[in-house]
Order: sequence, then C-alpha cells, then structure tokens
Amino acid sequence: MEYKIGVISGDGIGPEIVAEAKKVLDQVAAKFGHTFLYENILMGGCSIDATGEPLTEEAIAAAKASDAVLMGSIGGNPSTSPWYQLPPDKRPEAGLLRLRKELNLFANLRPAYLYAELREACPLREDIIGDGFDMMILRELTGGLYFGDRKTEEKDGILTATDTLTYNEHEIRRIARRGFDIARKRRKKVTSVDKANVLDSSRLWRKVVEEVAKDYPDVAYEHMLVDNCAMQLVKDPKQFDVILTENMFGDILSDEASMVTGSIGMLASASLNETKFGLYEPSGGSAPDIAGKGIANPIATILSAAMMLRYSFDLDQEAASVETAVKEVLKAGYRTIDIMPQEEAKRRDVTQIRTAQMGDLICGYI
Ligand code: IPM
Ligand code: MG
Repeated sequence: MEYKIGVISGDGIGPEIVAEAKKVLDQVAAKFGHTFLYENILMGGCSIDATGEPLTEEAIAAAKASDAVLMGSIGGNPSTSPWYQLPPDKRPEAGLLRLRKELNLFANLRPAYLYAELREACPLREDIIGDGFDMMILRELTGGLYFGDRKTEEKDGILTATDTLTYNEHEIRRIARRGFDIARKRRKKVTSVDKANVLDSSRLWRKVVEEVAKDYPDVAYEHMLVDNCAMQLVKDPKQFDVILTENMFGDILSDEASMVTGSIGMLASASLNETKFGLYEPSGGSAPDIAGKGIANPIATILSAAMMLRYSFDLDQEAASVETAVKEVLKAGYRTIDIMPQEEAKRRDVTQIRTAQMGDLICGYI
C-alpha cells in the first residue's frame, strides 16, 4: 500500500530523531512491500525563521492532506532564543497547539513502559519496580486551560493575568469513551485523574466519567486526585493501566511517567481524532542543549512511527516488527547516552552509541 506521511522535523533535536524514524519506516516499506511518501511541513521555530509564523495555512493544509503526520519536536531555549521575544501567539508552541486544534486531535496516547533491559536507568528503588510497569496515559488534548481565553491586563495599576479552564460534557465524554475502549484492550482498568475537591471542571469530569463507565461494566475504574496521582506514580506505578485525564494534568503526569521509565527519550505518543488520522511525536521536547551533537535518543520517535503504522494505517504486524526490533537492540546492549547510567557504563556487555547508529541497528532487526 501507499501512504502519504507529513513530516514535521521541527527544531532542536527534531531533524536528527525524525531522520532515524524515516530510516526505520523505509526499512519497513522495503521489507513489507509498502510505499511511504514524505512531505516536509514547517512548524515551530524553523517556520518562524522561514515565514514569520509558527504554522502557516499551507502547513495546515499539507497536514490535512496527509494520511498521518510524523513529528520531531519544536521550540528552543526560552531564555536565549529570539523566538521567545515574539508575542505568545507567534512562538513555536503556538504552532503545535493550533495544529492540534485544527486537526481536532483530542486524544493523546502516551504509553509508559519499563523495558526489562532498562531497569538500571529507572530512578525508582528495586522493590518499587518489581516486575516492571506498563501504563497508558490518555491526555485530553484540545480543551482545558491550554485553549481557554487568556489575558494580561493592568487592574488599578496591578498587572493581572487570567487563564480559563473550560470543559463541556461532550469533550469529556469522547475522551472518556476513548479511555475505556483502550482499557478494554489492555488490563481493563481506568484511573480517571482530576482535582474534583477544588475545580468545577473536575467535578463535571467525574460525573461524565461515572456515566460513561456504566457502558463498560467489564472495565474497572477509579477516581484519583491529581496531586495523589503524582505521588502514586513514584510510589507504586504498577497499579496503573490507563490514566485518563485532562490537558494540563496529562501534560505534567506524562513527563513524570516518562522519567520513571528511565528516560523521556523512550516515550512515544499518538494524537488522534475521530478518524484514522493521527499526529505522532515523541513526548520529549527539542532538547536544544544537545541539538546537532548526534547523541539524542531516536527511540521515542521510532516508536511513535510504530504507533502510526498501528493506529493510522492498521499495519499491526509492521508496527510489532519495529517494537520488537527496539527490544532486540536494547537486549543486545546498545544504549544512547540518556539511557546509559554510570554504573552500567562500566559493564562490558553495554555499548554507548549515537543517534544514527541506533537507527541503523533497529533497521537491522526489522
Ligand atoms: C507536550 C508539550 C506541549 C504541551 C508544549 C510544547 C505546548 O509539553 O506535548 O507535552 O504542553 O502539550
Ligand atoms: Mg509536555
């Protein structure tokens, strides 16, 4: 089959990690007889430099015309990059938020899984790790605080900033349904995370989740307050299967979950709408401090490409071949620097490699 993939390389380490994911996709194409056609799309800082805007109408149209979009990362260092001298709606991140909204990508899947081979990169104690953990964070991606009205004004000579957090029941219901559907294919447990002891939006969230849960009697569910969840993620991450939560809580909790799996460089993500279309990106950022050095971990991007094969193209076997190849390379002892802890570096069976070598090795196992 032939598929059109929009490619947003973006800023920082983006181009390096996307190049490796494309290498792996090309290997999949050769092995399984598919054709992947790539179209480069500008977004973020590189788009500001080229066009003055973080996301142009042409870029949106190109993304819409693709079967799926593969993305690296966008943005720079806010304290040094000139992009952050621009008004907030002209900065790199505004491009990503707008694209999510334009494409109605309300469901953000962020799987956090501890590879047996990476136990030593996990910062948690042995007794907490146990036999590892495997959770899916489902983050609502087009509502809440990141999309509400905001303003900064002077009131009686005092600078005052306001952000608004709004959810309607439809937005909550569609993401809740997605959460229960995903849980059904996993260990059948949903933990819905909110702050219902304080926020109205969370109280509505809880009410709608309760209603949706009635349609899924085979799935267990619980509510958890977000502050408690942040604590439970490091105290006992094994308890989680699907974590269902709103936009900002999911943003924060997914970074935390990624770190307990050893490195943010391992975490893939898929942003989906009601159709087969999706935007696939690593959960990590553009890491400007290591950009261009060839040392970034491309695995999260490669695993995001595997999610694209599975969710947008229904190529389950192909997706599994990529995921297995990643495991094989880790098993063979190859590590980028971020997943190479000090003590392990001394072990003879572990080899530190660079970004491009990681891509080549993964291709070798497909
Ligand atoms: C993420 C990022 C983005 C977000 C930023 C870059 C706007 O942190 O994908 O988690 O907050 O959604
Ligand atoms: Mg984030």
